[in-house]
Amino acid sequence: MNLIIIGAQGSGKGTQASLLVERLGLRHVSSGDIFRSAIQNGTELGMQAKSYIDRGDLVPDSLTIHLILALLSEPEYSSGVALDGFPRTRDQAQALDQALPQMQKTIDYAIYLNVPQEKLLDRLLNRYVCEAHQHVYNIRSKPPITAGICDIDGSKLIQRSDDNPENIKHRLHIFFQQTIQVTHFYRAQKKLIEVDGDQPITKVSADIFEAMGLQSEFVA
Ligand code: AP5
Ligand code: MG
Repeated sequence: MNLIIIGAQGSGKGTQASLLVERLGLRHVSSGDIFRSAIQNGTELGMQAKSYIDRGDLVPDSLTIHLILALLSEPEYSSGVALDGFPRTRDQAQALDQALPQMQKTIDYAIYLNVPQEKLLDRLLNRYVCEAHQHVYNIRSKPPITAGICDIDGSKLIQRSDDNPENIKHRLHIFFQQTIQVTHFYRAQKKLIEVDGDQPITKVSADIFEAMGLQSEFVA
């Protein structure tokens, strides 16, 4: 199964992708995580992406499309992926659509996590991610067992450098002006599942599984 998770900044793409990946045995492909790791490791990709991410702008399609399509064509991604944060422009969606048949792949569902804009700033300002693997926490809705430490790998929890109010407002503007068009693209293909993302994490997950006709570990 190949899934796309679409949603505004803080809607829970990473959170829900992790649950889907664990349950369905998919590979998690987060474009944002890939860019942040590249920046942390000082690679050429990281150097190219950094200024865009620091400003809250989208990394250019020319860089992003090639990066993700090259990854998807690798054998380890053949048994299914959860795409988190890609595609987020119409050109990215079209490029993905054109490339998938050559890889004998198709998108099964595009899941849109719909959360009112006014809830998102608060979620992001209370978000922490772990230094080692970017596991996601929230001081209010998903606190770690031990304050400041990742439950999964024991690394330190930090705030993302793009999680400041100015940057968040700019990223949200881009989402509601531009990325929302990706939902229209998949709605036209009858692949869009729209889920109310303004509910507890387990309830959102249960709704996603129910919409895909699958049994969830959580009760819908
Ligand atoms: P990316 O890393 O994808 O960031 P984003 O789009 O801003 O989305 P977030 O990761 O901030 O939010 P999320 O939806 O994953 O929410 P999360 O699960 O963490 O991209 C970063 C940057 O990279 C972009 O700005 C751009 O520059 C570049 N980039 C990436 N992809 C690109 C592309 N395709 N093209 C061009 N450029 C690209 O949850 C948020 C918080 O809320 C957490 O604390 C979580 O615990 C909590 N939470 C989650 N669900 C719930 C719930 N149901 N109730 C209460 N709290 C919840
Ligand atoms: Mg994310």
